[in-house]
Amino acid sequence: MAEIPSVNLAGVEKAMPVIGMGTMAFPPADLETTKAAVLEGIKAGYRHFDTAFSYGSEKALGEAVAEALRLGLVESRSDLFITTKLWASFAAPDQIVSACKASLENLKLEYVDMYLIHWPVRLTEIVKKTPVPEEIVKALDMKGVWEGMEECVNLGLTKGIGVSNFPCKFLEEILSIAKIPPAVNQVEMNPFWQQKKLRDFCKEKDIHITAYSPLGANNTKWGDNRILGNDVLADIAKSMGKTTAQVALRWVYEQGVSIASKSFNKERMRQNLEIFDWCLSEEDLDKISQLPQTKGVTLAAVLGPHPLVLEIDASL
Ligand code: A2P
Repeated sequence: MAEIPSVNLAGVEKAMPVIGMGTMAFPPADLETTKAAVLEGIKAGYRHFDTAFSYGSEKALGEAVAEALRLGLVESRSDLFITTKLWASFAAPDQIVSACKASLENLKLEYVDMYLIHWPVRLTEIVKKTPVPEEIVKALDMKGVWEGMEECVNLGLTKGIGVSNFPCKFLEEILSIAKIPPAVNQVEMNPFWQQKKLRDFCKEKDIHITAYSPLGANNTKWGDNRILGNDVLADIAKSMGKTTAQVALRWVYEQGVSIASKSFNKERMRQNLEIFDWCLSEEDLDKISQLPQTKGVTLAAVLGPHPLVLEIDASL
């Protein structure tokens, strides 16, 4: 079973395994498929799982965790690191604790290890389909929302708190009011969206970055094959006897960030863990640093091209 390094997060006791298994599938997977994939992931060595209220995978993940404990695949709940996220429809000060409790109810857990604000935006309604009308998209009440997140820690519902898809200016706002600073910012990052400015900022502020879509979310509605189909990465992979996916994941890891990568395929999820006992050469790193930059995931693609949404996309 692969040995996965862990990273210490500011203010969080438990270290976080640097690669987490994503649980959002496209097209959406049913409960049994997700549960089976997570169990397979645990057998492969994954101990960090990434979900969100909006992914619809919390229940399946929770069932897989319960099953893994029953089967003795993991000794105790504390051997796992579980991240989930506050959906924008509940990103109002008085709804955060109950939203976190609802996620815990889905997961059938007493606590999560990391609770993230999913997007820096509030929706004033619960939405069943996207895009959404412009009038329900509002700016976050940053102070009130962050106090709600801190309350989740104080109540023991989560060990750590952080954000996702937050540009520097919103992080500044949180840092100026936080009693518990954000430990993590989970953002899109891969060889084609390297996030240099945000990474530098977060490093200075001791906020750890987790990269989602490290493989460009190939074969999903929001991703493409610009990474897995890229010749520069494929040539590097060939010269090292690795796969293009492994080169992309290794590059992300070498930037000092952690990874949330989804594969529900038994071979590929294992392959993605085989990135810790080799490294990229200076020459290869240089080639990767010159790849053209194109952002894959936009909030506008989900919510619609509303002014506030476009402003967030432009700063991420
Ligand atoms: P699958 O679940 O069938 O393996 P990202 O991590 O950037 O979100 O990308 C996820 C997508 O990449 C999924 O479609 C996943 O499909 C695919 N994928 C994951 N690992 C690999 C790999 N090693 N080689 C090729 N495709 C992969």
